[in-house]
Formats: sequence, C-alpha cells, structure tokens
Amino acid sequence: MVGESLSRIGLAGLAVMGQNLALNIAEKGFPISVYNRSSSKVDETVERAKQEGNLPVKGFHDPKDFVLSIQRPRAIIILVKAGAPVDQTIDTLSKFMEPGDCIIDGGNEWYENTERRALAVKEKGLLYMGMGVSGGEEGARYGPSLMPGGTPEAYEYIKDIVVKIAAQVNDGPCVTYIGEGGAGNFVKMVHNGIEYGDMQLISEAYDVLKSVGGLTNKELARTFSEWNKGELESFLIEITADIFRVKDDKGEGELVDKILDKTGMKGTGKWTVQQAAELSVAAPTIACSLDSRFLSGLKEEREAAAEVFRKAGVGDILITKEVDKEQLINDVRKALYASKICSYAQGMNIIRAKSIEKGWNLNLGEISRIWKGGCIIRAVFLDRIKAAYDRNPKLASLLIDPEFAKEMVERQESWRRVVSLAISVGISTPGMSSSLAYFDSYRRSRLPANLLQAQRDYFGAHTYERIDASGSFHTEWSKIAKLQAKF
Ligand SMILES: *[C@@H]1O[C@H](CO)[C@@H](O)[C@H](O)[C@H]1NC(C)=O
Repeated sequence: MVGESLSRIGLAGLAVMGQNLALNIAEKGFPISVYNRSSSKVDETVERAKQEGNLPVKGFHDPKDFVLSIQRPRAIIILVKAGAPVDQTIDTLSKFMEPGDCIIDGGNEWYENTERRALAVKEKGLLYMGMGVSGGEEGARYGPSLMPGGTPEAYEYIKDIVVKIAAQVNDGPCVTYIGEGGAGNFVKMVHNGIEYGDMQLISEAYDVLKSVGGLTNKELARTFSEWNKGELESFLIEITADIFRVKDDKGEGELVDKILDKTGMKGTGKWTVQQAAELSVAAPTIACSLDSRFLSGLKEEREAAAEVFRKAGVGDILITKEVDKEQLINDVRKALYASKICSYAQGMNIIRAKSIEKGWNLNLGEISRIWKGGCIIRAVFLDRIKAAYDRNPKLASLLIDPEFAKEMVERQESWRRVVSLAISVGISTPGMSSSLAYFDSYRRSRLPANLLQAQRDYFGAHTYERIDASGSFHTEWSKIAKLQAKF
C-alpha cells in the first residue's frame, strides 16, 4: 500500500444492497474500500465501479488489507444478513481495527442486537452504530432513506457522507441522527411495519375495485395512476399502477393475475407487532397486515376451505352488486387515505412509546421528513405528518391533529360505505375495517369497557373505578344479583 492514498470509508458485505451503497458512496466523491469473503463479489463490485464511471472503489480479498486501507479513525459499514453473519463479520474485522474506529451495521437488525454489540466492541475501544437503510437496490444506488442510531460521536464519522448519499428532497437529505443505542434499527423496523400496512391497504383497495367493481387491469392501472396525482401520491401507488400494465411473458393477459397469492416476509413486520404489544400500543392496522400474510401463506388450506364452504352453499363472492364504478373508485380512494392516517398514527405511537421507555428523545417530525424520499413508504402524505408534528411536537395522536381530523371526518362516509359493501359481499378488508374501528374507538369518549371492568370485578375481584367518585371499588356482584333476582 506504500504511496497509495487511504480510502475515506470501508464497506463489507457485497450482496445487492452492499454493492449499490458502495457505488453510491464512491460516486459522491468518497474513495471506498470494499470487502467480501467470496472474492467473486469483490471483483464484481470493482468491475461495476469501472463501468459506472471509473468510481473510486478498491476491492480487497483479505480482511486485514481491507481494514488497513481505510483512513483513521476508520468507519466501516457492514451490510450482511441480520443475526449471526453480523457477529461473524464483526469478529473478522475488529481484529484489525484500532481504538476509535467505528462499525456501522446497515442491515435490518433487531435493535437489541445492536445495543449488545455496541457494548461488546466498546471494550476494544470501538464505536458502533445501527443504521436503517430503506429504498431497495435502486435506493441504495441513487439515494436511500437512512436511519442511523448510536452515539452522536459515531454519527460524526459518517455525517458528511450520509448527507450526500441519501435521497434529497425539498427540505434536505433523507437522513438525520435518530438517537442513541438501537434507535436507528427500531425506527427502521417500524418503517417496515408501516410499509406492511400500506401494502395491505392497497391490496384491499385492489380487491374491492376488481371483485366488486369489476375493474379490469387496464382500468386499475388508470385508476392508480390517477390516484398518484393526488393525496395518495407515493412510491407504492406508483409501482402498483405499473404492475397492472405488465403483460405475462408466458401466456395471455397480465402477469399480476398469474402470481400465486402467498406472501413472503422477513420478520420486521412481526417485530413491530410484538413491540406494539410489549409497549401496550394499539396497532390493529399493522397487526392485521401481518395476520393477512399468515393467512395468505395457507394457500392449500384455503383452497380446501373454499371447497367446504362451496358445498355448504357459499361461493367466493356472496352477492354481485350493481355499483357505480366512478363512485366506487372515489369511495375506495377516500377509504384508503383515511385508513392510511390510522396506520401511520399507530406506527408513530409505537415509536413515541419506545422513545419514552428508552429515553431516546426521538423527533417524530424529523423522522417523517427523512421518510419523504428514498424509502419504500415515501409519499407526499409524509409532508402533512411532518407538519402535524411541527405544529405540535407533543401531539398524542395524528388522528387529533386538526388537519387530519378534518380529513378523516370528510372521508368517513365513503370509508363506511366501502367497508359495509365489502362485508355485505363477503370480501375481507381487515386493514380498512380495523382502521375504521380504531378511529371509532378512539373518537368515542365512552366505550363499553365499563361492562368489562364489571366482569373482571365479578369473577376476579379486580376492582373498578367510578365515573363519579375517586378510589377503587369492589362489589359482591353474584350475591347481590341472586338476591335481587328474587324480587
Ligand atoms: C460475502 O458474500 C456472501 C455471498 O456471496 C455472503 O454470504 C457473505 O455474508 C458476504 N459478506 C462478507 C462480509 O463476507
């Protein structure tokens, strides 16, 4: 290496995301060293760097050479599969790293693993960060949304780089220092939970429009393109419109109709729902999107069930209804938007509850801002969420931000029509229905929980509070009820 200049940063793990992020960093003018155990990945990355504009990427097959090629204090991003591979990579690299160097895990890691590793490498004097990276391969290459968490000193190592490589929107780069410990991973996890919700709601809109409204793929493409010009404008709506246009290359019609209705997943959605439960935060829209993936996985079982119910007299759709297509499209658009508000309110509440528990001091407005570009849930709508938190950083729920409250009230008639219609024809719209139920529960000052409390006190003497007096009370329900029944 004599005479050669050192790289500004290193990146280990050259699968699709790693390669693209490395090229993005190099393209923004930061010389980068790259490493992977399998040497073909290294050569592939160096070759791409050459082809995509002679970018300053140096490849290494040896971990020691790799580490020593980076200027001190070193910053090394690792992008490998979450779990054991991260520990292995840290083991391999940390041997050659020196006090003051920093490791940044860019994978979808469980936040507690990041906190554990941060403590472990601290003994060697190393710094550690967990950085959520969203946007898929396209985002990694041309501008992702980045959610770095860890000590503020560690963020200083990469700040100049991440603000350049992140997606750029009207109010800045889609990156901000998230918070201490595993905060970056946690926020990325909830981002993915919200993404589950968005995708579920969109698929329900599709089902209603197709199965009840009888829209063809061509009409669906046109509808989603139209929607993408208004309040729903977002990456997911845009790609959905595209999907309906793609012809099947192996047969008649469009490809979407030939795809098996069985969903895959990797775990961040499940973690989000588990965390919601741990924190006692209601997140029905996100939870039902996870349940829907579980149910979709039971393809064979569902086919058998369809047969059982067909024999019992119930077909796929219970009744066919005459609907006004234009009105249905408008109603579904409004139901989708209102449901989305509920879903994001749930996600933000999970983040806020965790922030309080961990003392992370997370800024919900800033988090909404960095999701405006680069990531999968990027949407015009996030501007409104940011504005809501700017108006009131202590907002208890997005639902009661005056603007959102007004928007939901304006859409509730359509929302109720869509859900009722779906129920009456036998199409499940769990995302839209549970969002509506969430709205209806949240907006009513009195719920039937009084009866539930009476039941708990009846069988378990759990006591109850009164609306007209303070303190806790217990009643001998069974004795009194028996006595009074006599009269
Ligand atoms: C290198 O590549 C392989 C797959 O080709 C992958 O399994 C491995 O985790 C990568 N990362 C590192 C740091 O070696």
